[in-house]
Amino acid sequence: MGYRRTEPEKLSGNTFRMIGSDWMLVTAEADGKVNTMTASWGGLGVLWGRPVAYIFIRPQRYTYEFTEASDRLTLTFFGGREREALKLCGTLSGRDCDKIAKAGLVPVSFGDGFTSFEGAEAVLCCKKIYTDLIKPECMLDKSIDANYAKGDYHRMYVVEITDVYTK
Ligand SMILES: Cc1cc2nc3c(=O)[nH]c(=O)nc-3n(C[C@H](O)[C@H](O)[C@H](O)COP(=O)(O)O)c2cc1C
Repeated sequence: MGYRRTEPEKLSGNTFRMIGSDWMLVTAEADGKVNTMTASWGGLGVLWGRPVAYIFIRPQRYTYEFTEASDRLTLTFFGGREREALKLCGTLSGRDCDKIAKAGLVPVSFGDGFTSFEGAEAVLCCKKIYTDLIKPECMLDKSIDANYAKGDYHRMYVVEITDVYTK
């Protein structure tokens, strides 16, 4: 597999590029199945004295069923590679097809409940520690609500980064 465990502080890369431009996969398991989706909204940081990631999943995503059912998930970074696979995982739903196979992604286990994919540059194994729905009444800048024409407010998950693996 060729991965080594490292510390969150040793992750190299710029968060804005890693998430916003290069994108990541959010992957979770439930009932012996795995689903993944591309995400470009979120962050990495420190909260309650712990290394955390923030991710935002709309309730209509099939992945949502997995992130709700499981207490763990992975965030996978390809460092700008696998663009076509990421586009596919960001447009097709695992509800309708085996998009992991279609994207040519090969699952790799990083421990119980933690699946990522071959070729990843960095894998963050995470446990959910806090969640809430985005609420229109909490928007200080009301223009944000334009993102939710269908009323499909994201669920925010704060996840603790329990293990980091890099190539
Ligand atoms: C570049 C990109 C970024 C995305 N970021 C997010 C995100 O942060 N949150 C979200 O809910 N959906 C996001 N999506 C949409 C999902 O990836 C997409 O709806 C996907 O098909 C859901 O798959 P699923 O139904 O198998 O979960 C993004 C899509 C793309 C292409």
